[in-house]
Amino acid sequence: MRSLASRISVMSGEGALSVFARAQELERQGRSIIHLELGEPDFHPAPGVIAAAKQALDEGKDRYCNVRGLPALREEVAVYLRRTRNISVSPENVVIAPGCKIALFMALMALLEPHDEVLYPDPGFPGYASITLGLGGKPVAFSLAGSNCLQPDPDEVASKITAASKILITNSPGNPTGTVYSDKVQRRLAELAIEHDLIVLSDEIYARIIFGDEYISMLRYPGMEERTLIIDGFSKSFAMTGWRLGYTVAPSFIVPALDMLTVNSYTCAAEFTQYAAIEAMRDRERATPRMVAEFARRRDEFTRDLNRVPGFYCRPAEGAFYAWVDTSDTGMTAEDLCECMLEEAGVAAIPGAAFGAQGKAYVRFSFASSIATLKEAVERIMKVSTAWQGTPATTQL
Ligand SMILES: Cc1ncc(COP(=O)(O)O)c(C=O)c1O
Repeated sequence: MRSLASRISVMSGEGALSVFARAQELERQGRSIIHLELGEPDFHPAPGVIAAAKQALDEGKDRYCNVRGLPALREEVAVYLRRTRNISVSPENVVIAPGCKIALFMALMALLEPHDEVLYPDPGFPGYASITLGLGGKPVAFSLAGSNCLQPDPDEVASKITAASKILITNSPGNPTGTVYSDKVQRRLAELAIEHDLIVLSDEIYARIIFGDEYISMLRYPGMEERTLIIDGFSKSFAMTGWRLGYTVAPSFIVPALDMLTVNSYTCAAEFTQYAAIEAMRDRERATPRMVAEFARRRDEFTRDLNRVPGFYCRPAEGAFYAWVDTSDTGMTAEDLCECMLEEAGVAAIPGAAFGAQGKAYVRFSFASSIATLKEAVERIMKVSTAWQGTPATTQL
């Protein structure tokens, strides 16, 4: 029999999806499971967004449409980025895609030659290394260490730049750590990109979900316009995960390549979802700020409660909706710990190594669930915590 392309064997799946599959199996056996493994808001889009999708369908907006995305949506993206991120982009530089993941894939496909090096955060979104490998590139990790407040260390990034480095991936706020890169760190990364002629792929999918000050996009730094691609979308900020909609803001020289890849793959994003997305970005119902305020409450309570579990230590996320817990003091591997929490306590969470080698002493919990559910999760974990040793992190602080 003919074999598969070798790229398949170098790519990897997502830890979240395999934990989810096991959790569902337990549910089928009648077990009660609290799902804190998936990166999905427990909200749904605002009623106005649903109404806009229905109206678009009623009006027959279910045809093939513009390759680059509806002009009205691309204009809305430009207005939205000016309003929420204080950056000025032309609709001509916006390319709509069915989700950020495919946007990321297309951007890397447009840019990578075999053996080109891609610097990416570890722990980080699993797709960064997997897609790079699948395209014949070489992923080069830089760490987000607990000892450095989970921030990138620009000196480490600099030390890993070689003649083959082409792309620097940044992700602020980050999955799985919840880190918002500091202005100082981001500025230095931007300077490095200019010094070494790197293209920056700035994954800003969580940009609206921040619990602190104003968000600073990579595009805000001097000289970055010509070398930065912003990847963003609707899954997280507008609770539209299953709608499959995202976008890339790319420098002009890259846009025709993205058009070419679109024509050769998905043709266009679904038309009616794009009309709904226009309504989502206008956010007349203020659904996004309300959702973020609720995430902030959950973050505060859940972080406090997790830090009471023996052997757990968690710093409050600055953005996104994940608690990234250092579990080294439990004396158990994160894999064993997650297995124990799932099988014994019915709480699904992801071992940190699913996000890269640097995550191996950590566990990721999503706090996109109600406060009552999060409280019950911690109670259940407390009950099984006799399985491991440790001192509550709150006493170590
Ligand atoms: C950092 C990051 N980038 C990209 C994605 C992909 O998002 P989408 O649903 O738009 O494909 C995710 C989803 O979890 C993510 O966490």
